Amino acid sequence: MTAFMPAVDALDPMRIPSRTLAGGAQVPAIGLGTFGSDRYGPDAVADAVVGAAEVGYRHFDCAAVYRNERAIGAALAGLRTRGLSRSSIWITSKVWNDSHERVVAACAQSLEDLGLDYLDLYLVHWPFPNHHAPGVDVASRDPHAVPYVHERYLRTWRQMEELVKRGWVRNIGTSNMTIPKLKLLLRDAEVKPVVNEMELHPHFQQPDLFDFVVANGLLPIGYSPIGSPARPERDRTPEDTVDIEDPVITSIASRLGLHPVAVCLKWAVQRGQVPIPFSVKRSQYRANLEAVASAPLSTEDMAAIAGIDRRCRLIKGQVFLWPQAHGWEDLWDLDGTIAQ
Ligand SMILES: NC(=O)c1ccc[n+]([C@@H]2O[C@H](COP(=O)([O-])OP(=O)(O)OC[C@H]3O[C@@H](n4cnc5c(N)ncnc54)[C@H](OP(=O)(O)O)[C@@H]3O)[C@@H](O)[C@H]2O)c1
Repeated sequence: MTAFMPAVDALDPMRIPSRTLAGGAQVPAIGLGTFGSDRYGPDAVADAVVGAAEVGYRHFDCAAVYRNERAIGAALAGLRTRGLSRSSIWITSKVWNDSHERVVAACAQSLEDLGLDYLDLYLVHWPFPNHHAPGVDVASRDPHAVPYVHERYLRTWRQMEELVKRGWVRNIGTSNMTIPKLKLLLRDAEVKPVVNEMELHPHFQQPDLFDFVVANGLLPIGYSPIGSPARPERDRTPEDTVDIEDPVITSIASRLGLHPVAVCLKWAVQRGQVPIPFSVKRSQYRANLEAVASAPLSTEDMAAIAGIDRRCRLIKGQVFLWPQAHGWEDLWDLDGTIAQ
């Protein structure tokens, strides 16, 4: 088999730090997000997967609901024929909310679409079986939506465990969980989650959940690590703040001759989460990889960024609310109890 030819300006994947999961798997400490939202279609994202692999990415964060796994699967097949081995890449996918009762079938579909015979990591995307049509207004409500019911989530989790037993997925994890929900799952799981994917950026550091996740041997994977500056209007509220315009971030960036995005990503990796920034633009995704392979931030700069948490959740999840819910805060168990 021919050896994979990286791009001339590729970073050596050996320069990218990795993290060890409970169980021993090694995951690259930065991944490429693949949620094109309503801005980038499947082909643009699949092209970015190819380009990102060429510049040195080995970790891709996918999901059935991103509706591009088939195109990404074709991209991965092309990379394999060019010599990029399956074992050298890390592929995550996620079961969508409408498939909590049929996880095995949903995983089979993702495997088929991605053209893989196993996933490195499979996540329960949200802890609610509450579906919404793609692109709906945030005010729309599913009349069948329900709050978190642990017995129900556990039924979903048992199917996740079955996927591990079948060898279809090597690791399983959660996403968008809270401390009280994770406590119940950690109590009852036979196969423990090894990661929790959660929103993490300088203005939304979630220190309590982050510490809980790490203390329980899970790896935090941080989504929207740049503060999702290109998210659709419907996902914005007037209170939202902009990480890459924060004076602490911009002053560190200008002193070090970096883009503010690079500062956010360096901070993320040094803090201990795995960021999964999205971009389909070659100069951007290459720069994002370079950011985590180059000189780290100083202890002083890390401390300064620790001080700018604005508790500004961007992905509030309103569309997953059940009819009796008061507001998006109910999804996040802010007082430490599971909202009903
Ligand atoms: N588990 C979950 O529930 C969940 C939820 C949300 C996201 N995710 C995952 O996390 C990934 C990332 O989250 P996200 O897309 O919300 O936010 P993000 O990665 O914080 O922001 C992505 C946007 O930042 C801009 N950008 C990227 N690199 C840049 C650079 N070097 N310089 C300047 N701008 C740059 C791009 O804007 P332009 O396109 O305008 O250039 C890009 O669209 C998603 O793709 C998905 O895989 C998971």
